[in-house]
Amino acid sequence: MTQVIDNPHRYGLVSRVLHWGMAILFAAQFLSAAAHWALPRENALRETLWSYHITLGTTLFLLVLIRGVWGLVNLKRRPSHSGPMGTAASAGQALIYALMIIVPGVRILASAGSTRGLSYLGLEIFSPQAAEFAWMQAPAEWHGEMGWILALVVLGHILMALVWHRMIKRDDVLATMAGR
Ligand code: HEM
Repeated sequence: MTQVIDNPHRYGLVSRVLHWGMAILFAAQFLSAAAHWALPRENALRETLWSYHITLGTTLFLLVLIRGVWGLVNLKRRPSHSGPMGTAASAGQALIYALMIIVPGVRILASAGSTRGLSYLGLEIFSPQAAEFAWMQAPAEWHGEMGWILALVVLGHILMALVWHRMIKRDDVLATMAGR
């Protein structure tokens, strides 16, 4: 029977759907950021990919909060890491979580304190301000840079899973998230 919650041998259905679903959505988000960075302003592909950046970024912010709460609820029973490599893996995961909150968080904060406000799926989340709040804009100066750092850390995470665990150690770490 499909296990919904996590256990020490593998992640449950909710954790796995959140993990792989968010992996796909993050890939799309990095694609939009890469197009924004690499293609000229008037390029049609850049416009198309960029058109979903704010909505998808806000969705990812909400999903990471849900995932964080679910992770805390399952903290005691989910697969754990041991040894120095395990400690490094836990530190890497903590960094990914922190960046997944901070990267969209600083931009959402900037929108809340801007003259444009923020709408999400047709709903007005923050109405436009009469004037910009400088302190709410300041952290967003680093949004792009922190976004690229997140992309690098995610790349490291993928390489660790595929190269270290699957090819070198040949352990079952990847299987705990694959559901086998
Ligand atoms: C996890 C979610 C997000 C990731 C990974 C992400 C990533 C990025 C990256 C890497 C860039 C730099 C693109 C470049 O170098 O040209 C960027 C730019 C930008 N993002 Fe995001 N973003 C996310 C969420 C959001 C959200 C929620 C908003 C708005 C509410 C937003 C608005 C912007 C804007 C306006 C820019 C262009 C100006 C700048 O670089 O700050 N992003 N994003």
